[in-house]
Amino acid sequence: MYKVGILGATGYTGQVLVSLLISHPDIEITILTSNTYAGKKFSDVFPSFFGLCDKELKRTDEELKGKCDVYFLCLPHGTSMEKAKELYDGKALIVDLSADFRFEDVSLYESYYTRHKAPELLKHSVYGLPELHRDRIKGKKLIANPGCYVTSALLGLYPLLKRKMIEGHVFIDSKSGVSGAGRELKIGSLFPEVSEGIRAYSVGTHRHEPEIQKEVSKIQDVKVTFVPHLVPMNRGILTSIYGKLKEKISTEELVGIFKEEYSSEYFIRIMDGEVLPDTRFVRFSNFCDIGARVFEDGRFVVLSAIDNLIKGASGQAVQNMNIALGLEESKGLLSPPLYP
Ligand SMILES: NC(=O)c1ccc[n+]([C@@H]2O[C@H](COP(=O)([O-])OP(=O)(O)OC[C@H]3O[C@@H](n4cnc5c(N)ncnc54)[C@H](OP(=O)(O)O)[C@@H]3O)[C@@H](O)[C@H]2O)c1
Repeated sequence: MYKVGILGATGYTGQVLVSLLISHPDIEITILTSNTYAGKKFSDVFPSFFGLCDKELKRTDEELKGKCDVYFLCLPHGTSMEKAKELYDGKALIVDLSADFRFEDVSLYESYYTRHKAPELLKHSVYGLPELHRDRIKGKKLIANPGCYVTSALLGLYPLLKRKMIEGHVFIDSKSGVSGAGRELKIGSLFPEVSEGIRAYSVGTHRHEPEIQKEVSKIQDVKVTFVPHLVPMNRGILTSIYGKLKEKISTEELVGIFKEEYSSEYFIRIMDGEVLPDTRFVRFSNFCDIGARVFEDGRFVVLSAIDNLIKGASGQAVQNMNIALGLEESKGLLSPPLYP
């Protein structure tokens, strides 16, 4: 059994990790932390865990090194890198859900986030999008879990980028549920601020645009424009990607390319009929559903849907842990989507 610590267990991603790992056969949840709720039971904060996880929360700023085999950092950027610096010993596995180890280029990170306090660890980290980087993740001790929007965009673009099929520029339009902003109290996340409306935000300045761009540029020289929107639902991301193909093919051929690329990927489902991806079809699951259409003149649209808290965060983190530890990749992740 691997001993696991979840730091920031009282946030949305931390809480979802507890729910996933409770039924993971090789995992023992050993440490859960929160500074705000330290001393309380996890089930006092989240009563749905009553009788399932009554573990007492420790402080996040306590010395935790050497106590676990795996640490999940479900903390804000900036805080995560401090904790990683304290915990990294080349033996325990650290999976960081923040952006702190997602950028190999420190200056790019610093221009969008904050001063990097552990740049020396970047050489040990891997950008962990399992379907693209599985071989690099195996055996690693520091994994940067990708951003939620980035996951939906890259999985939707990858087969086209790999085959250098895109001409020019792509436009990535994403819509997210409000849990993407975390559980911390913010005016912009209040019910009257988000219900009965939809809005774009951080246009031209969102931190996931440089993350998408740097990963895209490693595969094909394509420029991206990314615009996120907040929609009145708890969870889910629908991403619509628009662009032009260098050579016109049919919708069936394009869908066929996605099927071929992802034929051995359990968590990627290609919609090949009339039905298009919908956040309701992936809720509470680690699936990414992808659909595609080609227009008469070669323009295309690719649609991808994920649950931001599962495939966009905690589910992907468990998938990364399974790969890094050499476990069956889908362990703890086989619950089907819940509908309605
Ligand atoms: N929400 C998503 O869909 C999503 C998706 C992908 C990645 N992420 C990333 O995952 C990380 C966690 O996100 P989240 O949505 O779970 O956030 P959250 O709901 O706001 O939870 C943050 C957690 O961090 C703790 N925390 C906050 N400030 C802290 C500090 N200064 N020192 C120590 N602990 C602190 C909080 O615990 P206490 O206040 O109780 O100590 C809480 O448990 C973030 O970096 C986020 O960008 C989130």
